[in-house]
Amino acid sequence: MSVAAEAVKTEHLSLPEELILMLLNEENGYFHQVPGWQLNCAVIGAVLAELSLQSRIDTDLESLFVVDESETGDPALDPILKTIAKESRTRNATYWIERLALRAESIIDLTLDRLVEEKILEHHEGEFWTLASTAWKPDPYSRPREVTVGHFIKTRIGNLILTDMIPDPREVILICLVNTCDVFRFMFKLDEEAEERIEFICRMDLIGRSISEAVLHNASAPLLRRAHLTKQIPAVGLRDLLRSPHVRDGNLPALFAELAGKHGPVFKLPMPFAEPMIFLAGPEVNHWTNRHGRMYLRAREYFADFEKVYGASGVLPALDGADHFRLRKAMAPAYSRRRLQGQADELYRHARESMAGWKVGDSFQARRMCRHMINGQISPLSVSVDSQDIFDDLMAYKERALTVHIMKLLPGFAMKTPAMKRTARAIDTLLARVQSVHTPAQRAGCPRDLADDLFSLNASDPQLVPESNLRFALSAALIASVYLGDAFSLVLYAMATQPEYYARIRREADAMFANGDPDGDAFTPAAVDVTHRFVTECLRMYPIVPASMRNVMNSCVVEGYELPVGARVTIAQTAPHYMEDVFPDPFKFDIDRYLPPRREHRGPGYAPSGLGTHRCLGFRWMELQLMVNVMLVAHHFTLEVAPENYKHRFSPFPSMKPSKKLKFRVAETVREVPV
Ligand code: HEM
Repeated sequence: MSVAAEAVKTEHLSLPEELILMLLNEENGYFHQVPGWQLNCAVIGAVLAELSLQSRIDTDLESLFVVDESETGDPALDPILKTIAKESRTRNATYWIERLALRAESIIDLTLDRLVEEKILEHHEGEFWTLASTAWKPDPYSRPREVTVGHFIKTRIGNLILTDMIPDPREVILICLVNTCDVFRFMFKLDEEAEERIEFICRMDLIGRSISEAVLHNASAPLLRRAHLTKQIPAVGLRDLLRSPHVRDGNLPALFAELAGKHGPVFKLPMPFAEPMIFLAGPEVNHWTNRHGRMYLRAREYFADFEKVYGASGVLPALDGADHFRLRKAMAPAYSRRRLQGQADELYRHARESMAGWKVGDSFQARRMCRHMINGQISPLSVSVDSQDIFDDLMAYKERALTVHIMKLLPGFAMKTPAMKRTARAIDTLLARVQSVHTPAQRAGCPRDLADDLFSLNASDPQLVPESNLRFALSAALIASVYLGDAFSLVLYAMATQPEYYARIRREADAMFANGDPDGDAFTPAAVDVTHRFVTECLRMYPIVPASMRNVMNSCVVEGYELPVGARVTIAQTAPHYMEDVFPDPFKFDIDRYLPPRREHRGPGYAPSGLGTHRCLGFRWMELQLMVNVMLVAHHFTLEVAPENYKHRFSPFPSMKPSKKLKFRVAETVREVPV
């Protein structure tokens, strides 16, 4: 396609769009760190200024009034215009910015979506945005330029503040707004002269001045303003909690959904050895966490004690902001589905090694069998060593550390028992084992693995990935086997208890393996339609990680409730999995929910892989590995659940898994496993 044909057609960006592009920080994939309330005020300021430039409102220092109520056609502007037009008294810009600031988040969402649609921004998994390198046509008459729109705007504004060029009114307002957010110093090298010029430009235009003064006025006293707008967070009593059937069956997402139904999306729960904890549950708070969580919530504190147990500090799940974005980008290939696809033959081989000895009548404890089967694959594929002999110790240590330091359900000395000291040795054994097979000579010609990526990052950027973090990072790779193994046992449980699905998955598996082992890229959506929808439904009904913890770093208002700075919150991201209005008839296992037009998983209510910036990086890898294993089992064996009277319940801490009582019995060998 020619550059002209590809060129972005947006001759005219609105002020909110230009502001968002100016504030975007390519280093962290989101905005420059502007406090949330200040950002909200600036965005509303941009909307008001745009309405004024489009002659819908007029404003000076004392008043803001509507001069033309007709719609602009821009969904970010029109609802605001309508609200102002409805007001009987004349108010000033300060009033409107304060009153409308809580609506800024939806305007930011709309604007980001529109900029992605226009190919001006690129959206990355984990809610990161970067400037897309599309050709850009600044006006209808100029030739498209091969620069990103964001760079174009930033260069234009840079020239205005660093030279004597005369800005137009739109540019003056943009400069005022960015200045209000106090981020010019992160974008340009400012000397005294440039700072004076910014001040001078900001005084040039009355609209810009009145709006930015109103923004500044509001931004300076956010807490006072917020307090009287918010509702009291309801506290759930212990009795209310214990009455729920889901406390007994261990179904945490269903419990959170039930509590949100009774008490609303933000509530407090009593904790055994600590202050009551704030919980967020519902599709709206999921959406908020996805889009805005990073401005207010941080992962560092909740993870600090846990990573310290491994001698680590600043590992991927504990990082925030630009460092997190950088490490996530660097590690993405190691966790990608493509990496696993490239090793499909090895994956089949290891899966078959585990199944080779299965005979009719054998029975296995589900959890243990599935975790070991998955670790038997993940360990050689990600760190190129076998770790089955130390896997039990790695698991026991990690489960205890999670229970003590994340769930806070056991006291600190529980980490120091002789048994724990013994299991801790497995971590050093693993590190030594992995290092011993990763010398350059040994790795020559081998497909790249996760350990290669970690060692090379440690060499090239020892601050981002210090050697002291390797014990954690390498054992975390195997700990993923616990999550994936538990998901596998629940998928097998769902298959073994629903013979009609078993038969459909087997048909897909037989077709897949009919002509020998398929390539990794053969698992296309059409080829695994039933299996994929089956796994998707299992992850809805049996999500392994039902909730995530964060600490509030900037106080904020969610669904009308204020989250105070410093509070620890639990985001029950999977609660909507059991909400009737998100997944109708939520206790029914139904894989047709994912077919058009229902597509019930397409909103923020489906979140087995978490939300926002820390969304599971291995999710696509996990889906493929899960499907391959389920299909191989269905291709070779019929499993049934034992004991016959088994009643399904979860063991929910520290992550969800089937109860220890669940066993699988081999009922039939459909085809021998090739050796
Ligand atoms: C059924 C299996 C799995 C489930 C349910 C799951 C779920 C999750 C969830 C909910 C998070 C976000 C945690 C938070 O926000 O605090 C997460 C993060 C992560 N997961 Fe998974 N996961 C699974 C398997 C895997 C596998 C197999 C891998 C590796 C191949 C993996 C790699 C990661 C990584 C690297 C992160 C951290 C991402 C970040 O902090 O930016 N996961 N996972």
